[in-house]
Amino acid sequence: ATVHDQKATRGNGGELHQIAEGDTPVLTTAQGGPVADDQNSLRAGERGPTLIEDFHFREKIFHFDHERIPERVVHARGYGAHGFFETYESLAAYTRADVFQRPGERTPAFVRFSTVAGSKGSFDLARDVRGFAVKIYTKEGNWDLVGNNIPVFFIQDAIKFPDVIHSVKPEPDREFPQAQSAHDNFWDFISLTPESMHMIMWVMSDRAIPRSFRFMEGFGVHSFRFVNAKDESTFVKFHWKPKLGLQSVAWNEAVKINGADPDFHRRDLWQAIQSGNFPEWDLHVQLFDQDFADKFDFDILDPTKIIPEEVLPTKPVGRLVLDRMPDNFFADTEQVAFMTQNVPPGIDFSDDPLLQGRNFSYLDTQLKRLGSPNFTHLPINAPKCPFQHFQQDGHMAMRNPVGRVNYQPNSWGEGPRESPTKGFRHFASQEQGPKVRIRAESFADHYSQARLFFISQTPPEQRHIADALTFELSKVQTPVIRERMVAHLLNIDETLGKKVGHALGLQTMPKPAEAAVPTRQDLDPSPALSIIER
Ligand code: HEM
Repeated sequence: ATVHDQKATRGNGGELHQIAEGDTPVLTTAQGGPVADDQNSLRAGERGPTLIEDFHFREKIFHFDHERIPERVVHARGYGAHGFFETYESLAAYTRADVFQRPGERTPAFVRFSTVAGSKGSFDLARDVRGFAVKIYTKEGNWDLVGNNIPVFFIQDAIKFPDVIHSVKPEPDREFPQAQSAHDNFWDFISLTPESMHMIMWVMSDRAIPRSFRFMEGFGVHSFRFVNAKDESTFVKFHWKPKLGLQSVAWNEAVKINGADPDFHRRDLWQAIQSGNFPEWDLHVQLFDQDFADKFDFDILDPTKIIPEEVLPTKPVGRLVLDRMPDNFFADTEQVAFMTQNVPPGIDFSDDPLLQGRNFSYLDTQLKRLGSPNFTHLPINAPKCPFQHFQQDGHMAMRNPVGRVNYQPNSWGEGPRESPTKGFRHFASQEQGPKVRIRAESFADHYSQARLFFISQTPPEQRHIADALTFELSKVQTPVIRERMVAHLLNIDETLGKKVGHALGLQTMPKPAEAAVPTRQDLDPSPALSIIER
C-alpha cells in the first residue's frame, strides 16, 4: 500500500482535519451532502450540549448503530472467495442442466467455507465440520451446492436439526463452551442418537481439523437427481476433490494454532489467492440408477450413508478455481445467501428427508438474517443471467417491474412469459403411501458404515480417532453419557471401544449397544434411556 501525504490542518483541540483538494473526493453524507467537519459534532457553544439539528452526526451514528446483522444460526464463521466452474465434458446424456453441456465453458462461482458450531468470532481450527457452500451463477439461474467437508450428516430427518444444533452450541444456562463439541449436552444427544455414529467417526477423525480450506474435500451429501432432456432421471452424488490433496493438522497443533492465530484458515486462503496461488477442486460425480440403488442394504436416501467409491467409482466432470477475494467481506461473504432449493433445470431433489427439510429452511432463514425478501437483489445473490418476473416492492426493492405490466396473463404483449420447454419441470417421480411419521427400516443400520470408516483409516489415523474420543469424552461430567458412548463404540469396533473405555477409567465395560434400533413398541425405560438426575 502507498502512504500519501495529504493537506491537513489542526483544529482548536489539536484534532486532525484532512482536507479534500485536487482529485481527492469530498466526504459526503449518505444523502450526498458535502461534509465540512467530520471531527466535531454541532454544539451550542464550544462547551455546550450537542444539538439534535446535527443531521450529519445523527446519520453517522444511526448507521453505525445498525451495522450488525444476525449471524448465521449455524455456520456463522466463514470465509469466501470468487472463482469459476469449468465443465470437462458434456453430461447431456444425464442432465439437461446448461452448465454441464459444453466442455471448456466457464461459469462464475462463489464459495463460502465455514465452521458449523462456533460463533462469528470463534477460532478457525476448532474440531468441527466445515461448510463447503458453492454458488454457481449458471445461464439458467443460480445453482447452490450447499455441502460440507464430510460426506454424511448427524441426523436422518430435518426435524432433528434444531436438537442437534442446540446440543452442540453453548449450554443455555451458562453460555459455554463456545466452539467445541466437548460437553455433556452434545455427547448426551449423540449417545441417545445412534444414527449419528457414522458422522461422529468422521468428526473425531483428522477430517475435522483440516490444515486449510485448500486441502479439504467437499460433498453434496445427499443423493440428488440429474434429469436429461427426455425427462429420464439418474441419481447423483457430488464430491469436490482438492487438487492439492487432503491434509489435516494434529490436535496438539490445532490447539496451539488456535491460540497463536485464530484466523489461520482465512489468512491462508487470503494469502494464497492474493499471491496468485489459486486453489482448485475437481467436481466428481457418482452416477447410479434405481436398480443399482436397490442392491444396497442401506437406503440411498439416508444422509448418514455414503456409497463406497470401491463399489461406485467417482468420475471427474469439471473443476472449480478460486481466483479472487471479495473487495468487501460483508458485501459478499456475509450477505451471500445459499439455499439448497436453488437448482437449475436438469438438477433435482431426491426424497432424502434431510434434504427435503433443508429446502424449506434456507429460504426462511435468509429472510430472517438479511431482513428483506429482496435479498436476491444484492449483487452477490442476484443471478448473472437475464431474469424477469413480477415480484415487486418490499424493503429495499431495487428491481421493480418496468412499465405497466406487473401480472400475467395480460393483454399488453409486455413482460416475460412461461416456457414449458425451457422452464424447470420437477421430475415426476411416483410417490404414494400412507401419511405417517415413521422412519423406514432401510434407515436402521447405524453401525456398519461407522465401522467401515474406522477400519479404512491407517493406524496413526485410528489412534487419532481414539485419542479424540478419549479427550472429548473425558470432558463429559456425567458417567452414564460416557458409558453410553463406549457402548456404541464397542459395537462399531471392539478394540476402539475398549481402548477408549480403559482410557476413561471405566471399571467395567458396558454391553455393546444394540445394532438395530428398537421399534417404537419395543421401547421400555431401559437403563440406557433413563433420565439423568442433576
Ligand atoms: C447453513 C450445510 C443440514 C439449516 C449452512 C451452510 C452450509 C450448510 C455449508 C453455510 C452456508 C454459508 O456458507 O452461508 C449443510 C449440510 C447439511 C445441512 C451439508 C446436511 C447434509 C441442515 C439442515 C437444516 C439446515 C437439516 C435445517 C433443517 C441451515 C441454516 C443455515 C445453514 C438455517 C444458515 C443459513 C444462513 O444464515 O445463511 N448449512 N446443512 N442445514 N444450514 Fe445447513
